[in-house]
Amino acid sequence: ENKTLPFEAIGEGTLHRLVDAFYHRVGLHPDLAPIFPDDLTETARKQKQFLTQYLGGPPLYTNEHGHPMLRARHLPFEITPTRAKAWLSCMTEAMDEVGLEGSVREDFYARLNLTAQHMINTPDEEI
Ligand code: HEM
Repeated sequence: ENKTLPFEAIGEGTLHRLVDAFYHRVGLHPDLAPIFPDDLTETARKQKQFLTQYLGGPPLYTNEHGHPMLRARHLPFEITPTRAKAWLSCMTEAMDEVGLEGSVREDFYARLNLTAQHMINTPDEEI
């Protein structure tokens, strides 16, 4: 087997631009900004580490922070279906901005969608 890792197909430079474009949008999004820190520098740094390993690159996140335990790390925040949708919409726009296209984008997005659904821990409030 000689399969190219998604991390290699996307490239570190594009991945880092993607994460920066993503958190720029998160910081402006009315459904997301309230649960994130005002300064997203450290959040973006951790997400670059996490997505590097998620895409098959070196285990940068685990080396510094231990097992991701993503759902547990999200439990302090109310992750509603609306917020998951907002997170994914920021990611779609960020992928557009950095020009990520084709099957590598489709596969990456499909995995992020599954992970985002798994993070939901709070129902949307009934109106
Ligand atoms: C951290 C929200 C989905 C990966 C966080 C934080 C919030 C958050 C509020 C804390 C930020 C901070 O304190 O710096 C959300 C919401 C999601 C979502 C609303 C919607 C479903 C995801 C997904 C992934 C992810 C799909 C991965 C594919 C991470 C990582 C961290 C993080 C790696 C840093 C954890 C750490 O502190 O070490 N998220 N998240 N999140 N999120 Fe999410």
